[in-house]
Amino acid sequence: MRLNENILLLGKKVVLVPYTSEHVPRYHEWMKSEELQRLTASEPLTLEQEYSMQQSWRDDADKCTFIVLDAEKWQARLSPEESCMAGDVNLFLTDPGDPSLGEIEVMIAEPSCRGKGFGTEAVLMMMSYVTKLGLAKFEAKIGQGNEPSIRMFQKLHFEQVAVSSVFQEVTLRLTVTEQERQWLLEQTSHVEEKCYRDGLSGSH
Ligand SMILES: CC(C)(COP(=O)(O)OP(=O)(O)OC[C@H]1O[C@@H](n2cnc3c(N)ncnc32)[C@H](O)[C@@H]1OP(=O)(O)O)[C@@H](O)C(=O)NCCC(=O)NCCS
Repeated sequence: MRLNENILLLGKKVVLVPYTSEHVPRYHEWMKSEELQRLTASEPLTLEQEYSMQQSWRDDADKCTFIVLDAEKWQARLSPEESCMAGDVNLFLTDPGDPSLGEIEVMIAEPSCRGKGFGTEAVLMMMSYVTKLGLAKFEAKIGQGNEPSIRMFQKLHFEQVAVSSVFQEVTLRLTVTEQERQWLLEQTSHVEEKCYRDGLSGSH
């Protein structure tokens, strides 16, 4: 979606920025990993297909995506920005009849960035951002064997609602009640929203 095309969200551990064509080569390199293809249930794409995918992520109204940057590297002004990339976080509006429901996906592709709270903060920041746009129910579909991801979503208050033996995946869900909304606001009260290509990010 174009709504976030000039939005930068600055957190403690991660910075979320829109997925631009400059990020595509590194993203494409990541997705050559068979482990990541398996864990994210993704098909390998050619570089050209990856560029088309990036455009559709930007243009389609039912998809919101951010690239996850390592905040420490980003604050240190490591250049180019691609060298700060850690992963991505995505949201799909899956039900045209219910615009308050979103499916969330996260990938911390850089192995050295895992287990440091990046995935947790990226999901919290995405949920907080889209809650302000009217999202109130989140789902995550995760491979049955992906214990780290299942545990992370459970720690983020998601509960298992379904298991598909066909797809070998579990569905976890979080409904944002008033109590959950307050919790989400507290967890993300430090997050600053900035313009992506202005100010601090302009030097990258
Ligand atoms: C799963 C993933 C998103 C987690 O992100 P992360 O930044 O590494 O996780 P965090 O540091 O935020 O950890 C949050 C919680 O997740 C769980 N967790 C994370 N890594 C774990 C591991 N290797 N083993 C078991 N639990 C793990 C823990 O409960 C952890 O909480 P704790 O640190 O208090 O114990 C990330 O490792 C990843 O992207 N892996 C590869 C791709 C993938 O599986 N994507 C998800 C597809 S649905």
